[in-house]
Amino acid sequence: MKRKDLIGIKDLAKTEIEEILRCSDTMRGILQSDKKTDTLYGKNVVSLFYENSTRTRTSFNQAARILGANVESVNASASSVQKGESLIDTGKTLDALKTDIIVIRHSMAGAANLLAANVSASVINAGDGCNEHPTQALLDLYAVKRRFGEIRGLKVVIIGDIIHSRVARSDIRAFNKMGAKVTVCAPYSLLPDSVGELGVSVETDLLNAMAGADVIMALRMQLERNSGALISGMGEFRRFWGIDGDVLKKASERAILMHPAPINRGVEVTGAAADGEQSVITDQVTCGLCVRMAVMSMLKGGAK
Ligand code: CP
Repeated sequence: MKRKDLIGIKDLAKTEIEEILRCSDTMRGILQSDKKTDTLYGKNVVSLFYENSTRTRTSFNQAARILGANVESVNASASSVQKGESLIDTGKTLDALKTDIIVIRHSMAGAANLLAANVSASVINAGDGCNEHPTQALLDLYAVKRRFGEIRGLKVVIIGDIIHSRVARSDIRAFNKMGAKVTVCAPYSLLPDSVGELGVSVETDLLNAMAGADVIMALRMQLERNSGALISGMGEFRRFWGIDGDVLKKASERAILMHPAPINRGVEVTGAAADGEQSVITDQVTCGLCVRMAVMSMLKGGAK
């Protein structure tokens, strides 16, 4: 991959996405065989998180360690950010410490791009506000490809808090680039005004959206971004847009249930659906490890 940074799916060509998916498969082979790899030996990887995370930060850190890198985590709430340091000054500090890759999550859309323009290190966007979460979309593609073999032509339905979701924006771009047919389904209040520009079909009725669906992607209600104020209550959301066993029966027989997690069980999906046979939510996490190994190797890896 001939680029310094990974900021968004928007920037990636289909051929680059295909290359990342192939490399992710190689990484899965390495994980399964317990082989060591020193692709990032001697490189310094810093995860710089201004927002909470469990799976993204842990899997980036784990991926970097498996590849032989030195790994540091900066938690913004316990760093000099609290003393008023700007994002650019923090980035320049990490540059001066010979950091090779900065993995950043920030509440502000555009933060990863701003950082990338001001540091020598490679920057990977681990989620910037409501804008993009590119490695989530890549891992979702990879999980779907592993299940179906081919992404082109699949019907992908993304349900819920579309307006606040960086996962939705990255997934829509990613699945569209790979030739899937994407439908978004939500109450109007949880759809962005620009939904018509996203290249998707729009449904407000969940059962209509489910017809023929191969991939059902439930999104977390982002209460920290005030989603609750846009609907009349979680009960209403659960009743009309929540996924349970009966809803899943309306989709294709081979349909899989995905969720980027963390899940609000009993809101976006019932516990039984999340843990059921059609769920690939746990496999998504493993796919995330493979994809993040692939992305870091391709941005900064040596010949090995
Ligand atoms: N899917 C996702 O980004 O999860 P975390 O917030 O736990 O990283």
